[in-house]
Amino acid sequence: MKNINPTKTFSWKQLTDHFYDVKNICMNDLFNIDQNRFHNYSILFQDNILVDFSKNRITNQTLQLLLMLAKECFVSDAIQSMFLGHKINKTENRSVLHVALRNQLNNSIFVDNVNIMINIQKELKKIKNFSDSVIQGSWKGYTGKSISDVVNVGIGGSYLGPYMVTESLKAYKNHLKIHFVSNIDGTNVTEILKKVNLETTIFLIASKSFSTDETISNANYLKNWCLFHTNYAKYLDLHFFALCENVTAALNFGIVSRNIFKFWDWVGGRYSIWSSAGLSIVLSIGFKNFELLLCGARMMDQHFLNQELSQNIPVILALISLWYTSFFGTETEAILPYDEYMHAFPEYLQQSYMESNGKSIDRNGNLVTWKTSPIIWGQCGTNSQHSFFQLLHQGTTLIPCDFIFPAISHNPINDHHEKLLSNFLAQTRALAFGNEKIINNNMNSNSLNCSSRVSYKYCPGNKPTNSIMLKKLTPCVLGSLISLYEHKIFVQGVILNIFSFDQWGVELGKLVTNDILGDLSKEKFSNQYDSSTRGLLNSYKQWM
Ligand code: F6P
Repeated sequence: MKNINPTKTFSWKQLTDHFYDVKNICMNDLFNIDQNRFHNYSILFQDNILVDFSKNRITNQTLQLLLMLAKECFVSDAIQSMFLGHKINKTENRSVLHVALRNQLNNSIFVDNVNIMINIQKELKKIKNFSDSVIQGSWKGYTGKSISDVVNVGIGGSYLGPYMVTESLKAYKNHLKIHFVSNIDGTNVTEILKKVNLETTIFLIASKSFSTDETISNANYLKNWCLFHTNYAKYLDLHFFALCENVTAALNFGIVSRNIFKFWDWVGGRYSIWSSAGLSIVLSIGFKNFELLLCGARMMDQHFLNQELSQNIPVILALISLWYTSFFGTETEAILPYDEYMHAFPEYLQQSYMESNGKSIDRNGNLVTWKTSPIIWGQCGTNSQHSFFQLLHQGTTLIPCDFIFPAISHNPINDHHEKLLSNFLAQTRALAFGNEKIINNNMNSNSLNCSSRVSYKYCPGNKPTNSIMLKKLTPCVLGSLISLYEHKIFVQGVILNIFSFDQWGVELGKLVTNDILGDLSKEKFSNQYDSSTRGLLNSYKQWM
């Protein structure tokens, strides 16, 4: 991968000048001068995902200059590099091959002279056999009963992805109840234990490193709790499983080898749902639906790998985001799924985006002088409309938004879905055009008619949004959508000249935690703390 400083490229300079020419252009005018704007600024993927990026503050020239930026930063080469298994995760000397997990195109991919496709197929077969046995009831607990509950014990990428996918695909779930323990807060595991019967529950210890303190602490607690409450010495053999790269640590914990589902160092935690880390997903929706999830991602991978940049969805969305963060100076981006099943999607993307691109050292080892990841946040519509849409419409902060909507509902009752659709369309329209275009053309809304722009009722519009319409939230479509965002984040990282696949920033907090934890049991603190930490610690000790 090249290490191009984006701000030194010719296109960046062109974009800087261009920004001053277009920064005040109204979207209203852009639609007036091009009656085919929707057609020219939307892409249909596999006839089941329509991406409409027309309601953005971009012109044809903007797009051309952004595409030039992608070319000057060798985005196409970087894409090839990733798919070929080059060690683009340089600071950890690893390949980045979550795309191989859903490849199944029977080609070979080599990492350190090992054809990883053989290992992937082997693990998938093991996952299929095990999940089938649990779902069909042939896997029995220690009292000979079939399994009813699955508890996934993991955090970060070992939680957020599996949770988001099992929630998003609830319409496809079987009888198994899936629970998640992630937080070190004792409330989390305590509340879950109230819901399950240890005779018919299996525990998946999901941790790539098998060393994350929250996960191992919860796993140890559960192990001891189960052994004590069941008084069954071999409980672990029938009820505890490890989803990890660190097999030795899992064996040392007491997981028997046949209960270990492996994945590899070239699978980043936040990109791991396609691997054994996604076992809870397979148990929830079955292996066939999991294969459809993989298939959807594979189709988006092929689009990303082969489509020319100007028609390449992840590339286009990445460039538009960069346009706002780097030139409009926007600080955040909102993900707004108009689908209750997708309620965990914004939280999932928070880790995907911000743990990947929340960096400030470039690939040459220098401090960046440009913005990197925006803050990602969001909430389902229409609830979000009754929470923070006031700010989106009339606030002082420009916030680009991704609206996501499934055309076909899994739960079509009364006229609910038509109302959800109307809200989805109305919000992006109102955000784009504001009062002037809409109210003045709509006579029965004179209550909102305001001649002055300095009015409490005035909505300026010109607020950018992408509309992503799904035909239906199916395993295949969700797979494509997740892959779309994975690749969008990748392209942004390439152009921002940062390493998107390490996460060194989380290590300091862990170090300080261990210092403080060590001090809690001592009368006198062994570490020189600041007065705030010391004051808080003293108060804690007094209250305790
Ligand atoms: O947040 C840091 C991190 O390493 C994430 O990247 C990862 O998903 C999470 O912690 C959990 O790591 P593990 O799967 O190794 O327990």
